Amino acid sequence: MATAESNSDKAVKIIDGVWWVGVNDHFNPLFEGLWALPHGISYNAYLVQGKNKTALIELSRNGFAETFIKKIEQIMPLTEIDYIVHNHLEPDHSGIIPIIYKACPQAEIIASGKGKVFLEQFYGEGKRVRAVGDGDSLDLGGRTLRFLGYPWLHWPDTMFSYLVEDKVLFPCDAFGGFGALDRGLFDDEIDLASYWPEAKRYLGTIVASYLGHVIKAIDKWVKGGMGINILCPSHGPVYRSNPMSIISRYQEWARNDKQDKVVMVVGSMWGNTHQMGAIVKHRLEHNGFTVKYFDAALAEPGQVLGEMLNAGGIVFGGPTYDTNIYPRLEYYLMLFRGKKKNGYPVATFTQNSWKVDITPKINRYLEDLKAQVVSPQVVAQGPPDNIIKKKLELLADNLAAKIKDSCFIPEG
Ligand code: FEO
Repeated sequence: MATAESNSDKAVKIIDGVWWVGVNDHFNPLFEGLWALPHGISYNAYLVQGKNKTALIELSRNGFAETFIKKIEQIMPLTEIDYIVHNHLEPDHSGIIPIIYKACPQAEIIASGKGKVFLEQFYGEGKRVRAVGDGDSLDLGGRTLRFLGYPWLHWPDTMFSYLVEDKVLFPCDAFGGFGALDRGLFDDEIDLASYWPEAKRYLGTIVASYLGHVIKAIDKWVKGGMGINILCPSHGPVYRSNPMSIISRYQEWARNDKQDKVVMVVGSMWGNTHQMGAIVKHRLEHNGFTVKYFDAALAEPGQVLGEMLNAGGIVFGGPTYDTNIYPRLEYYLMLFRGKKKNGYPVATFTQNSWKVDITPKINRYLEDLKAQVVSPQVVAQGPPDNIIKKKLELLADNLAAKIKDSCFIPEG
C-alpha cells in the first residue's frame, strides 16, 4: 500500500511495467491562478514499459522537475526513454519540458496535430514532434499504445492514450479532480466520499464550459467497445478497483440535469443584504428547494461553480457600491458569463441606500446570460421591512415556480 512518504518520494507500480511517476503539489495555492487548492493537486504522469520500448505519458508543471526525475530514475535512466507522450499541452503537464527534453535526448515526442502547434507556441519544440491522429498506435514490444482524439476536453489538442493489451486508459484531464494523493494513489486506498466534492469542483471549474464534450466523449468511448481495467487520469486517484465510479459520476454531473437546487450568491457590506438573502433562502427551502448560499466576499469561486452543476436557478443579491455593483458580486456576474451559465431562471435583490439603483447594470449581465429574469427585482434601502419581506417572499415563490415550469437545458 502506498503511504504519504512513498507517494511523495517514490514511483508507484500500477501493474508490471506501468508506473505512476507523478508529483503532488502542496506549494501552489491556486490552479490556473483562479481555483483554490486547499488539499493540493496531483500532476499524474506514467511510465509504460514494453519489451522493446518505453513511453513516458505526461510530465508536470514547472518547479517539480527534480522530484519528477528522481522518481523515474528509481525505474530506469531517463536517457533510455524512447517516447514522451503529451495527451495535452496545458502547462500543468508540460511546464518541465525544457528540463526533461534535455534529459531525454533520444526520446521521440508524440502529440496530436494541435498539440504539435502548442509545443511550438509554448516551447519552440514543434519540429521534434510526431503528430498522431485518432486511432494511430505505437508498438512498445508486446504492448500497444493507441491514441484517440478527444478535442475540447478541455483544450483543442486533447487526446487519450490507451494501453490496448492491459486495457489501461490514460484519459488526460477527463475524470480528474483536485486534491493531492498523499494518502494513497489508488481508488481503494482513499476515502472517495470525501474526494468526490473535489472532483466535482474540478469538473465545475476546469471542464464546465465543455460539458457537452464530456458526454460525447463517454458515448464515443462506449461505442468504441474498448474495456477499461484501470483508469489513469492526469489528476486525482488511479481507479484500479472501480473505474466506473468516477465515469458514472462525471456522466451524471456533466448531464447537468436540473434539480430542485438554487445557487445564491449574495454580497453585503453591513449585513442588510444578507438579511434579504436569508428571507429568500428560507422561502425557497419552504418551497422544497435545496439552497446553496454563498457569501460573495468569502466564497471559493470553484465551490460556487461546482454547485452550479445540476442547479435549477440562480439568485444574485448585493448592494450598490460607489454607484456601481458591489465588486465581489460583479466578479460572479462576470464569471458566470465567462462560464456560459446561460438560460437559467435568475432572481435579484439589491440595496440602493444612495438612491442609485444598480439593477439595470446587473440586467446587462443577465441579458448576456440569456437569463429568465424573475419578477419582482427587489430593491431595498437598509434592513428589510415588512413590505420588502413580502416582495422577497414573492420573488422566491416566483423563482420556484419558474424553475418547476422551465424546461431549459443549461449550457454549462
Ligand atoms: Fe490538467 Fe488541462 O491540464
